[in-house]
Amino acid sequence: MQTILVTGGAGFIGSNFVRHMLSMRPDWRIVNLDALTYAGNAANLDDMATQAPGRYRFVHGDINDSDLVKRILIEERAGAVVHFAAESHVDRSILGPLAFVETNICGTARLLMACRDVWEQSGRPRDFRFVHVSTDEVYGSLGPDGYFTETTAYDPSSPYSASKAASDHLVRAWQRTYGFPALVTNCSNNYGPFQFPEKLIPLMILNIVAEKELPVYGDGQNIRDWLYVIDHCEALAAVLERGIPGETYNIGGGAERANIDVVRQLCTLIDQRLHREGASCGSRLIRFVGDRPGHDRRYAIDAGKIKRDLGWRPRFQFEDALAATVDWYLSHGEWIDAIRSGDYRRWIDTNYGAARVG
Ligand SMILES: NC(=O)c1ccc[n+]([C@@H]2O[C@H](COP(=O)([O-])OP(=O)(O)OC[C@H]3O[C@@H](n4cnc5c(N)ncnc54)[C@H](O)[C@@H]3O)[C@@H](O)[C@H]2O)c1
Repeated sequence: MQTILVTGGAGFIGSNFVRHMLSMRPDWRIVNLDALTYAGNAANLDDMATQAPGRYRFVHGDINDSDLVKRILIEERAGAVVHFAAESHVDRSILGPLAFVETNICGTARLLMACRDVWEQSGRPRDFRFVHVSTDEVYGSLGPDGYFTETTAYDPSSPYSASKAASDHLVRAWQRTYGFPALVTNCSNNYGPFQFPEKLIPLMILNIVAEKELPVYGDGQNIRDWLYVIDHCEALAAVLERGIPGETYNIGGGAERANIDVVRQLCTLIDQRLHREGASCGSRLIRFVGDRPGHDRRYAIDAGKIKRDLGWRPRFQFEDALAATVDWYLSHGEWIDAIRSGDYRRWIDTNYGAARVG
C-alpha cells in the first residue's frame, strides 16, 4: 500500500482524482488535505468510506499550516504529494487578487518547505514525488496559429495565472536548488462532474435548465482546449508514476472550441433532454456581455511530450463527454441544491461537530 497526500481534494479536479484513483489503484491510500474554502465540498467524497474502506482519510486543514503538513506526511509515511489546492477562478482573481497570492504562491512555498523538510529527514527517498498541478494559462494568449509547448515563455495575463506561474517557478526552484523530486504539469480547461457552478460549462448548464440568461464574454470567440477531467486525472497518474523529476508536462485534449460554440452545444443537448423546441430553445437566452479584462484569446496545448514519453492519451471525445457532463448535472439535483443553498458549507459541523479534524 502506498499513501498519497492530495491537497485540495475536495475541489473539482481533486475530488475526481481521489475517486478515480481509489477505484483504479487498489493499492493506494489517499489522504486529502483541504481547507474547504467556498470551492471545497467534502461531501463530494462521502461515499469513499464505503467504496474504499480504510483507504481514504479527509483532513480539514490549510497547506499554509506547515506543522500539520509535516505531521500528516510523517504519520502516514506518504510517498507522494499531488498538489491541487489553489484559488482557481479568474474572475475572482480580478476582484480580489490577494487570496490568490496567499494560497497559490505563499501556500505552495510553505507546502514545498514542509514537504522538503520531511523528505530530507527521511533520508531523501529516491522514489518520493511531488506533482504540482498547474494550468496552461501561465503561457498567456495565442494567436490563431501555434500551440503551447513546455518551452513556451511564461506570459500570464490575470492575477490567477500570474499566481500559478509564480508557483510553477517555486516548484522548479525547489527541484533545481535542493534536488527535491518535483514535477510540474500545465493543463488546459477541464470539464466534468463536481465542477463548481461559477465556471463556464456548469454555469451555463444550470442557467439553461433554469431558463436564465447566458452571459458570454465579448464576441464569444475566445478559444479553449477542453479536456475531460478523468483524462486529466489519468495524465496526472502517468506523471506521478512514470514522469521524471524536474520535467514539465503539458496536458491537453486537442479539443479547441470557441466559448460561444460550447454554449450553443450545451443549449442543444439540454433542449433535447428537456424536449424544448422553437421559442423555448436555450439559445434564445444567450447575451453577449462586456469582455473580461485581460481576456486571453486562445489557448491550445501541444501534448506531444506526455504522449511520447509517458504513453498517455486522452480517452474521451469532447462531444460524448460533454453530453455525459450534462447528464450528470441533470441527475444530481441534490448536489446542485446543496451548492445553491450553501448547505455544503455545513459539512464540517454535520460530520465532526465544530471540532477541527485531523
Ligand atoms: N479547472 C481547470 O480547468 C484547471 C485546469 C488546469 C489546472 N487547474 C489547476 O488544478 C487545481 C485544481 O483546480 P480545480 O478546478 O479543481 O479548483 P477548485 O477551485 O475546484 O478546488 C480547489 C480546492 O482547493 C482547496 N483549497 C483552497 N485553498 C486551500 C488551502 N490554503 N489549503 C488547502 N486547501 C485549499 C479548496 O477548498 C478546493 O477544495 C488548481 O491548482 C488549478 O490551478 C485547473
